Amino acid sequence: MKHLLSIEQLSREEIEGILDRAESFAEVGRRDIKKVPTLRGRTVVSLFYESSTRTSSSFDLAAKRLSADVVSVKAAGSSVEKGESLKDTVATLSAYDPAAIVIRHPYAGAAQMVAGWTAASVINAGDGKHEHPSQALLDVYTLRRKLGSLEGVRIWIVGDVLHSRVARSNLIAFNRMGAEVTVCGPPTLIPRGIEELGCDVAYGLEGIEEAEVVYALRMQKERMSESFVPSLREYAASFQIDSRRLQPRQLLMHPGPVNRGVELSGEAIDSPQSLITEQVAAGLVVRMAILYELLAGAEGAPSGEGESSRPTPIGTPA
Ligand code: CP
Repeated sequence: MKHLLSIEQLSREEIEGILDRAESFAEVGRRDIKKVPTLRGRTVVSLFYESSTRTSSSFDLAAKRLSADVVSVKAAGSSVEKGESLKDTVATLSAYDPAAIVIRHPYAGAAQMVAGWTAASVINAGDGKHEHPSQALLDVYTLRRKLGSLEGVRIWIVGDVLHSRVARSNLIAFNRMGAEVTVCGPPTLIPRGIEELGCDVAYGLEGIEEAEVVYALRMQKERMSESFVPSLREYAASFQIDSRRLQPRQLLMHPGPVNRGVELSGEAIDSPQSLITEQVAAGLVVRMAILYELLAGAEGAPSGEGESSRPTPIGTPA
């Protein structure tokens, strides 16, 4: 695999392979020295045109834990603000001969375009409303650790499905792993035809008690050019997951950042059922596994070099 552009491109076996690799990095993370030399001498560029805390920090740390050199560029404060195009920015950063470029961009399809302009492996860290594949992988990893398997697990994805790349990637990934998915939200926030991706649709929370997992989505106010709900207060009254609506046996997930008091109550966020912190921790080891798969796996190892340049096994400390 050269690039990770979508979850759509991955088979169930490929997803499981990445998650198994992430498990081995979790083991490395429990050691005193958490760094391995796998990507020594290689460079990972992260290029973010939208704000991020979790994805950008965990990709940077994942690359550092694998001993890569890391260059992080945020559009704000860079020459993008002087009008440099995406193509020229990618050409500029490609001059450093990076092994990978991690890109987040508001335009759906941006990662795919970047893959056509660079020799580096490209990782989609979120492109508009399209996909966020590493989020889906870390969420499947989190659930697999908790439940053992997603086969037959009923998952309700609740909230602003229309503007959510996480909803799309997770729906595909959860289905591929054998879960039964329902998407739920006001009709204005559910994309027409989403059933074709293989899910049920609900326009209210009646019936949510059947779910083993409740996955709440952030209201993406920055992507809303019009009013999709009468007010956030009225949205919360109908769709907020709070301790009254969350059953004690249900698991609660959210990709973050959370609008506290809108899609989730403070109590629900801090409840024992909440996996939000586990999701963030999973992001590190899953993103290490993605970088390993692309850059040190069968297709990603440097070519035309001898035995000595082969990637170092995971178990060897840096
Ligand atoms: N879940 C997620 O993508 O979070 P960030 O925007 O903080 O990266």
